[in-house]
Amino acid sequence: MASLHEQIGELRSHFLSDLKEASHSKDLENLKVKYLGKKGPIQALMLELKNCNSTERPLFGKLINDLKEELLSHCDHSLARLKQTELNDRLKEEWLDATLPGRASHKGRLHPITQVLNRVVDILIGMGFSVQLGPDVDTDYYNFEGLNFAADHPARDMQDTFYLAEQESLLLRTHTSNVQVHAMENLAPPIRIIAPGRCFRNEDISARSHVFFHQVEGFYIDRNVTFADLFATMDEFLSKLLGEKVETRYRPSYFPFVEPGLEVDVKCISCKGSGCRICKHTGWLEILGAGMVHPNVLKKGNIDPEVYSGYAWGMGIERLTMLLHDIKDIRLFTNNDLRFLEQFS
Ligand code: PHE
Repeated sequence: MASLHEQIGELRSHFLSDLKEASHSKDLENLKVKYLGKKGPIQALMLELKNCNSTERPLFGKLINDLKEELLSHCDHSLARLKQTELNDRLKEEWLDATLPGRASHKGRLHPITQVLNRVVDILIGMGFSVQLGPDVDTDYYNFEGLNFAADHPARDMQDTFYLAEQESLLLRTHTSNVQVHAMENLAPPIRIIAPGRCFRNEDISARSHVFFHQVEGFYIDRNVTFADLFATMDEFLSKLLGEKVETRYRPSYFPFVEPGLEVDVKCISCKGSGCRICKHTGWLEILGAGMVHPNVLKKGNIDPEVYSGYAWGMGIERLTMLLHDIKDIRLFTNNDLRFLEQFS
């Protein structure tokens, strides 16, 4: 039975040299199966026990069992060690420096024009007006004709209006007043709407004028609407926008679609009326155009001027934003310069 001793010794040394090669926990799992599995050499030795006589059997049985225990403990030991180094390696890879400063995210913000436009719209919604949007591209009828512009009115001139080349009657609206005409077509009095939006005029671009700007239109039609209602609405709106103490001044003016027509000035918000560069030393700032809706406009909109009356106004948002933020050049709004835009959070 010396051969069994030899077999055990050989098996052990094979195992130990295999063990040295194992560099990964997976190798060890394989090694365990190879030596200790059902088809492995230990099991084979166990089977040979039945050829031993009854005195040898317990002796050799113990030898084989000891070997088995020894290999098992080698395996478990090395497995624990390898798993630990593998874990350390992984942790090293996944290492995270919690003290590193984060990456700054670039937060967007609303354009100053949008901010002022939203504020104006919010105030007017609070006063009972609802928002109606009209088309930027419209016909001569909605932009001029329906608003009582005479056929030869200079505002229709090619110099002021962008006409769409292929179709002479299509144009880019020059004001948001086109929404008045659409509103009378789509709604029955009482009508109480505001219309924020873009307008276009074929003018030279300079520090004070641009081909593209924004207006907010107001339009109110009901029975017995008077000039006093217009004053009260403008005063309340402007004090909500510019502060309780704002002083207003109403000057006669002319627009074909209102009669009487007027322009509204506010006491200069910068110098409080003493005169400065912003108000061109007059103490007053022109803020909007307004008036009582012309009977011809009502008639064209199928509203009887004997029964109904109303008022309308329109204000330029670029101009207002320039006054509020002391901006000297209207072109800054469309230059897309972040140094400018980032000032309006
Ligand atoms: N549409 C006029 C403009 O663009 C403003 C205005 C609107 C005036 C409504 C009176 C009434 O200047």
